[in-house]
Amino acid sequence: MDLEKYFKIRINSIHPSKPIPFDIFININNKMVHYLRRGNAISVEKILNFESKSSNPFYVPVEQRPDYKSYVHNRISSGELSSIEKAVVLRECSIALVEELFESPDIGQALEESKQIITNFVELIDDEPTAMSHLISLSSHDFYTYNHSLDVSIYSIGLGSVAGYSRLDLKELGTGALFHDIGKRNVSTSIITKSGPLNDIEWAQMQKHPQFGLQILNDENVAESVKACCFEHHESFLGNGYPQQLEGEDIHPMARIVAITDTYDALTTKRTYNKPMSPRDAMLFMTHKLGKKYDPDLMEAMNEVMFRAYSSSTNY
Ligand SMILES: [Fe+2]
Ligand SMILES: [Fe+2]
Repeated sequence: MDLEKYFKIRINSIHPSKPIPFDIFININNKMVHYLRRGNAISVEKILNFESKSSNPFYVPVEQRPDYKSYVHNRISSGELSSIEKAVVLRECSIALVEELFESPDIGQALEESKQIITNFVELIDDEPTAMSHLISLSSHDFYTYNHSLDVSIYSIGLGSVAGYSRLDLKELGTGALFHDIGKRNVSTSIITKSGPLNDIEWAQMQKHPQFGLQILNDENVAESVKACCFEHHESFLGNGYPQQLEGEDIHPMARIVAITDTYDALTTKRTYNKPMSPRDAMLFMTHKLGKKYDPDLMEAMNEVMFRAYSSSTNY
């Protein structure tokens, strides 16, 4: 089976009962089976049935990718969706794409492909005050590099928006956050997927991912701020981070944002060796136990993001 000829999509990005402009396949026993022809519609029952078997994704032929992308974009900008529905569609279609981006050997193409995702998130978060709370509630509790990267990107856009960033800056910040851990590609998989604490040698390898990331991005046409998010996101406001031990305002402001959202996502996500904290506990832990590691003004903005998102919810 030629998997490279197809890309995965998530079922929630499809509108039930309306004709779709691309073909859908499913993978049955390593064979791609035509599930729905373009021009046909999928029923609500079928979607519900499929949602319960989430391990079984839909596939679309690669040559129809532009049709799928404009379909999703049209759905989001059509005005027919509520802000929660928009958040669901956008996150669903992005997670499949981001998963693919992280497996792609061509970083330039991945950066190019990510532009539409980032623009959609910036517009949604900046235009719809309630979108951020929906996006936070949809964030994944399982830790995979691509889920993590997408959620860090979403939180960073939310934080940047509260901090008054322009749309152009929010796009750079969203891109930098999406690619902040790209250097982990050059760290061995056994270290990345190890379930349990790393030994000294493994930890030294792992701590090289910001440099690896910078080397990767230096070959691409990206803004300096995008590179800074990648290279400086493990620096600490106190000067005891890595790799350069930069201090306070010597750290790029966007990297200071990613330092906050990266830790928040790690604390609230389940890994094999820890239990996830609730959003509230994670924020309290970061404020009181780790507080001095972060830019105090940006930490305040992060608290504001969480307060706005959860002020109407009892789960916080
Ligand atoms: Fe990192
Ligand atoms: Fe990270």
